[in-house]
Amino acid sequence: MEDLSPRPGDLEAIETASRDEISAVQLERMKWSLTHAYENSPFYRQRFDEAGVHPSDLKTLADLAKFPFTTKRDLRDTYPFGMFAVPREKLARIHASSGTTGKPTVVGYTQKDIDTWATVVARSIRASGGRAGDIVHVAYGYGLFTGGLGAHYGAEKLGCTVVPISGGMTERQVTLMQDFKPRIIMVTPSYMLSILDEFRRQGVDPRESSLAVGIFGAEPWTNAMREEIEQSFDMHAVDIYGLSEVMGPGVANECVETKDGLHIWEDHFYPEIIDPETGAVLPDGEIGELVFTTLTKEGLPIIRYRTRDLTRLLPGTARSMRRMEKVTGRSDDMIILRGVNVFPTQIEEQILKCRGLAPHFQIELTRAGRMDNMTVHVECTVEAAGEEARAGSAKELAHHIKSVIGVSTRVAVHDPGGVARSEGKAKRVVDNRPKE
Ligand code: DLL
Repeated sequence: MEDLSPRPGDLEAIETASRDEISAVQLERMKWSLTHAYENSPFYRQRFDEAGVHPSDLKTLADLAKFPFTTKRDLRDTYPFGMFAVPREKLARIHASSGTTGKPTVVGYTQKDIDTWATVVARSIRASGGRAGDIVHVAYGYGLFTGGLGAHYGAEKLGCTVVPISGGMTERQVTLMQDFKPRIIMVTPSYMLSILDEFRRQGVDPRESSLAVGIFGAEPWTNAMREEIEQSFDMHAVDIYGLSEVMGPGVANECVETKDGLHIWEDHFYPEIIDPETGAVLPDGEIGELVFTTLTKEGLPIIRYRTRDLTRLLPGTARSMRRMEKVTGRSDDMIILRGVNVFPTQIEEQILKCRGLAPHFQIELTRAGRMDNMTVHVECTVEAAGEEARAGSAKELAHHIKSVIGVSTRVAVHDPGGVARSEGKAKRVVDNRPKE
């Protein structure tokens, strides 16, 4: 694979600034953001007043811990436009993310916010090894989801040629990739696997494709999956993280030269890790729930937003800004099976260890009497489709899951193509337990 380390002059000054410089920028911007939220959003004014805090109480970055958290529920309760800190006419764009229940979460951006977002996505694509002049195939969904348009504006800002194909119509994705020869693809990792299958179905060697870099995010994926994709396509696979409430894709991104976790673009998004039970701030290095405060956003400033994503903060390496480790899961997609915490990413890791299995999977939860059961639905590879091979793979996977994660599971090995395919974010858990 190509060496894509940045060349002199590639980076913005802030990417290599000292820790002190970064903290100084953060403190100044944090004061602005708290004041902006308090003065312009009745929601935040009420919240801060109830908690007995005022923006002037922030003297140091650590003082942020005095301020109340914001949750997805707050956005739902103020649906659709109740949390904005600018008059609606000042918003250039609205996005929304599907809530787990009921109404979606609505977010809004001023023109300046859109420009900031494009800047951090451009920075993310550059960190991934992208350059001005590259063709970028954007297969994240366009629409209310932030993936497609977020990637699009960032790629344009960097000076790339964008192919706004969106998700779906996989056959056409592969055809156009052969015709247009993109160097970069931006897509969910689970949909990349569907694209991989389609390459093979069409008899096209994915290693011969023009792709040099894939920028994958919007859902958790493992380093084992990275290896699988990198080997299959002979390309670099890097991780991009973000969420609509904070901005969209491009809150943090891995650097292609290190691939050691995602650098958080801390000049715009201030991270904290908290204990999800008590809300206490944890020191860097400890695993907990990621919380973000926006430092420059006008339309929807977000103060201490609880992402539900589990990770930890690590010092900077390829850039000065701190890294977050690959997200292992969300505190709310964690399955608790007979007392053991199980994350879909752990199952993915075990599947990738079994040679006879393809990495498409879904976890089904059922209940017999008072007993919860987990069935892992997975596919065999074409080479291991015989009955005996399947039985062997099922046994092997159940054994790995039992010995590494500590739970007994059923494994159902389906034909190649037998597990529902993703065209965007994969739905990993299907809960068929009776509702209480
Ligand atoms: O998924 C934004 C995005 C689009 C990120 C494209 C990256 C690429 P939401 O729909 O609001 O926004 O979902 C946000 O998705 O809280 C995480 O749980 C999950 N997520 C996003 N990126 C990653 C990642 C977009 N790289 C939620 N690894 C977040 C793990 C991720 N989980």
